[in-house]
Amino acid sequence: MTQRLPIGIVGGTGYVSGELLRLLATHPSLRLGCIASASQPGTAVAEVFPNLANCLDEANFASLDDLDSMWRDGGLSGLFCATPHGAAAPIIAGLLEGYGGSGRVVDISADFRFADVGIFREVYGQEHGAPELAGEFFCAVPEHAARIPTRHAAHPGCFATAMLLGVVPLLRSGLTDGRFHIAGVTGSTGSGRSPLATTHHPERHSNLYAYRPLTHRHAPEVQAVARQMTGEDAAVRFVPHSGPFARGIHVTIQGNLVGGADGSALLAALKQAYQDKSFVEVVDSPPRIKDVIGSNRARITATAEAESYAVMVVLDNLVKGAAGGAMQWMNRLLGLAETEGLTIPGPAWT
Ligand SMILES: NC(=O)c1ccc[n+]([C@@H]2O[C@H](COP(=O)([O-])OP(=O)(O)OC[C@H]3O[C@@H](n4cnc5c(N)ncnc54)[C@H](OP(=O)(O)O)[C@@H]3O)[C@@H](O)[C@H]2O)c1
Repeated sequence: MTQRLPIGIVGGTGYVSGELLRLLATHPSLRLGCIASASQPGTAVAEVFPNLANCLDEANFASLDDLDSMWRDGGLSGLFCATPHGAAAPIIAGLLEGYGGSGRVVDISADFRFADVGIFREVYGQEHGAPELAGEFFCAVPEHAARIPTRHAAHPGCFATAMLLGVVPLLRSGLTDGRFHIAGVTGSTGSGRSPLATTHHPERHSNLYAYRPLTHRHAPEVQAVARQMTGEDAAVRFVPHSGPFARGIHVTIQGNLVGGADGSALLAALKQAYQDKSFVEVVDSPPRIKDVIGSNRARITATAEAESYAVMVVLDNLVKGAAGGAMQWMNRLLGLAETEGLTIPGPAWT
């Protein structure tokens, strides 16, 4: 049997880290090598993630210094960073400073989503923590990039993955204009582990509300990645909503067809774009989040009436929208098949 390659995780107690651990538990070629926690070094990982208690070999959270030593000694083939934005860049810069090994990094925060750190500063209102590394990370949805031009990768984020799954093939098809009006609904795990006044259970349960309408940071992120992947300018007008469920994202993209295109042409373009992609299914009727939650799959459809079209996308924010999409990149960076460890089906009823 071939040895499974050891992988490190930073930001250990977060929701995305929990999903990375869950995926690593059954990955045929990768295994957990070290998981670092800034807040709980020494704590048993199973205490924080009891759902994984039977597959963690009594692992404890390490300190960042211990993970750093293991990384420099060549004991980790890859690293996932799943800290909040702003924290990730300086941590990754520290881990890469003077590092001469062959390990690869996949960042799941927003810190390396923009190749231009000036745009990061504008959108996030803070200086970038490691501007010298921005050119070493490539940010895209894996299905849209035949090859990765850098050593390391950045995940575009959960809402952005859902939006880009529609926007990139639409731009490439030439069947639509470049203006995208997008409404999205996310489950509460999208906000991470720490409760806020606007995200805790009594607010979200049986409730639905928009937040940061037309001003959310994910719009410029989608525009930047779409431009990089297609060479076309997109105008993304995004209204996110908080939904009364724990996992899942549903986005609806609306806009105008051009050149007399119709809904069947749009659906055919999507089918062509994703015909050989294992994790994106183009379907003929509106998809539902329970079709995909718990899995790394996304489902997408399109319909049109006169010159107006609507594209609907669903995915699991923690899997395809975070840990699973990041695992696709890690697989590729380490020379593995992109689908390894990611084919487990979702439970549907949660
Ligand atoms: N949740 C989603 O659906 C989703 C989807 C796509 C992308 N993301 C991105 O993925 C990252 C993780 O998201 P999450 O939902 O897992 O967040 P989370 O539940 O809040 O976890 C983040 C973890 O990072 C560590 N951390 C917090 N503040 C830190 C700091 N100042 N410095 C260093 N470490 C710190 C903490 O772990 P320790 O104390 O154990 O180190 C914390 O548990 C974020 O950047 C988020 O934007 C999330």
